Amino acid sequence: MKQIIESILMILLLACVLPDKAMAAERETFAIGKNTFLLNDKPFVVKAAEVHYPRIPRPYWEHRIKMCKALGMNTLCLYVFWNIHEQKEGVYDFTGQNDVAEFCRLAQKNGMYVIVRPGPYVCAEWEMGGLPWWLLKKKDIRLRERDPYFMERVRLFEKEVGKQLAPLTIDNGGPIIMVQVENEYGSYGEDKPYVSEIRDIVCESGFDKVTLFQCDWSSNFTRNGLDDLIWTMNFGTGANIDNQFRRLKELRPESPLMCSEFWSGWFDKWGARHETRPADDMVAGIDEMLSKGISFSLYMTHGGTSFGHWAGANSPGFAPDVTSYDYDAPINEWGLPTEKYWTLRRTMQKYADGGKLPNVPKAPMPIISVPKFMFTEFVPITSGIDTTIESRDVKTMEELDMGWGSMIYETTLPTVASSSLLTLNDCHDYAQVFIDGKYIGKIDRVKNEKSLMIPAVASGQRLTILIEAMGRINFGRAIKDFKGITERVTLTAETDGHILTYDLKNWHIATIPCDYQTAVKAFASAKPHRFSLQSPNVVSSSNKGYYRASFTLKKVGDTFINMEAFGKGMVYVNGHALGRFWNIGPQQTLYVPGCWLKKGNNEVVVLDIVGPKGAPVAYCQDKPELDKLNLEKSNKHNNPGDRPDLNSAAPVVDTNLKAGNGWQTISFTAPAKGRYVAIECRSTHASDQVAVAELYLQDNNGKRLSREPWTVKYADSENEAGNHTGDKVFDLQESTYWQTKRGTDFPHLLVIDLGSEQTIKALDYLPRAEQGAPGSVKQMRVFVY
Ligand code: GLA
Ligand code: CA
Repeated sequence: MKQIIESILMILLLACVLPDKAMAAERETFAIGKNTFLLNDKPFVVKAAEVHYPRIPRPYWEHRIKMCKALGMNTLCLYVFWNIHEQKEGVYDFTGQNDVAEFCRLAQKNGMYVIVRPGPYVCAEWEMGGLPWWLLKKKDIRLRERDPYFMERVRLFEKEVGKQLAPLTIDNGGPIIMVQVENEYGSYGEDKPYVSEIRDIVCESGFDKVTLFQCDWSSNFTRNGLDDLIWTMNFGTGANIDNQFRRLKELRPESPLMCSEFWSGWFDKWGARHETRPADDMVAGIDEMLSKGISFSLYMTHGGTSFGHWAGANSPGFAPDVTSYDYDAPINEWGLPTEKYWTLRRTMQKYADGGKLPNVPKAPMPIISVPKFMFTEFVPITSGIDTTIESRDVKTMEELDMGWGSMIYETTLPTVASSSLLTLNDCHDYAQVFIDGKYIGKIDRVKNEKSLMIPAVASGQRLTILIEAMGRINFGRAIKDFKGITERVTLTAETDGHILTYDLKNWHIATIPCDYQTAVKAFASAKPHRFSLQSPNVVSSSNKGYYRASFTLKKVGDTFINMEAFGKGMVYVNGHALGRFWNIGPQQTLYVPGCWLKKGNNEVVVLDIVGPKGAPVAYCQDKPELDKLNLEKSNKHNNPGDRPDLNSAAPVVDTNLKAGNGWQTISFTAPAKGRYVAIECRSTHASDQVAVAELYLQDNNGKRLSREPWTVKYADSENEAGNHTGDKVFDLQESTYWQTKRGTDFPHLLVIDLGSEQTIKALDYLPRAEQGAPGSVKQMRVFVY
């Protein structure tokens, strides 16, 4: 009782002290009016810059905010990344680099409003779309659904977000004008009860007075659209803007219009060309929206860097994202204005209500370079082993309580007199296979590989599999992405016409976390950790492991460390994890923020799970290298041997499609059975380059087939320079497309391997999202075989 009275007295006391003039005068309002947002009761166009606080070193936060302001933006839009704040279940960290409230206060200090997108799922090319990996310790968890454990963890986390950010909403005198509920749920499923529960959780966390909204695509926003939330659309540079808002205007003629993610560029994946989007097209889109009073958030205005192990991966297939999140955004990865920035700024000036945009701030650091330096210390990768266990069956990384890193699986082999096929079900993500210490080959999930031929072996020979995990998938259903070997390992051999399969058991399993502390311990332990059944460890005799070097500086600055001498792994500078490197490219340098360097001695530690080809050396250059591919094999699918002979085949459909944007369904004359679907494009409506954004196939019941097992068997022409390869028709992204090369002859053929035989009765087809649907197919024939 005494406590209650004391609290009441305290509240009364505060009430007398706090509502002084300063606070009351600054209180603003944000609301929804007829076809517009209202700021302090006046029409307001949101011009938001998407920036992500973990992708910018904290000392640079304010500089980047000022850069956005000088571009003519009035708002910052940011996700809250659950998995950086709760790296261990129940332990929350909102300090230092994670202090998102401080980021919002800096925004306010600089006269910017804030849009907060607290997930729980955020996508964003971020590890597991922002979900913490430890959720996977509950093996049967249903992510982004009303799984009781998932919902409970969401509720607890959002409560913490509320503690940090609810005091900063506009009704409390802070800069936050809008808060997003979930993220593009339409590209994941249809589940209004789930989305409603997330809305309630967000409300209950303290966001009960601020404007709530949902973002989705124009093709799917009705699936989960809640009656009481604002609906906004996401689409990219070049999109037909009127078309994107058409359906929304029909359903809600009085709604304000907002493109909640207008994609300035695109993200890069290992093994594919660096993505760019033309500045003029991006600026034209913004100009058009502003001329029509449409609000927007430019995703990304400044992309920054997915430091450490935080880059995610795209699916279907497995396409891990590179470390740089430059995104071809107006403000480049290291915070400087690009050509795109200046072009956009000129247009933004037109909409600055007669005022002059603030001056563009000076970069916080100069750019420096560092001459070549040698790595003089080395300890093998086994020195980084944290725990080892023995287990009949293989275990995933999550089962061994590790979030990120590598695993070693070791067992003895049976006698197999002929060569046999080693299969990892499944290999997540990059495995190197050794027999008695000899390297046999790799199994690379990026290439859809699962198996490897191994030579004849005798009983007792030792099989070692070193497997490195990359980022967890952040898009689509595959976000439930266990790491390591997920189920089992088999050996299949053919002897005397019989097929024999061995299910390999009795494993020694070791974990190697990927963090700086592990590297430090590895060097300190000096003598390699022994990890082996009998003979000296196999992997330890190789050049896979930790390398250490140092360089000295007279003056610090931002720079880019060139990793081309190394294979694949992670780099730490003065204890800061810079991110992943991989010699296949396209990224060959990693951004080193000057604020992490110092005068005098600087330490560099490299964990290379493959090993350098020659001498272990590095240097720092004054420009990044983001577009240098170094592939064993090109990404194209035009091997003539894969081209089917369709001369005598009968198409399941031969039809003329409509011109223009939007989905069309093409029904077959009768259901057809087969593993391969060949799409023959005989002519187009506009442009001589065929372009197809997305394709789905419907089974006998009209249900769409899962596209996860799909691969491209053949494409006669692919505009690879722009990353317009055949697989873009099933990458779940409506803004990416397969495109043939300019000036090549019709007809054009794309053959998809469905992975297994299927019965199909129709095809759903989406042309490019751009005005006039350039490259849209006119006459199409489809073959199933
Ligand atoms: C979607 C997501 C974003 C991001 C972009 C692509 O719009 O909402 O988080 O993944 O795609 O960059
Ligand atoms: Ca696509």
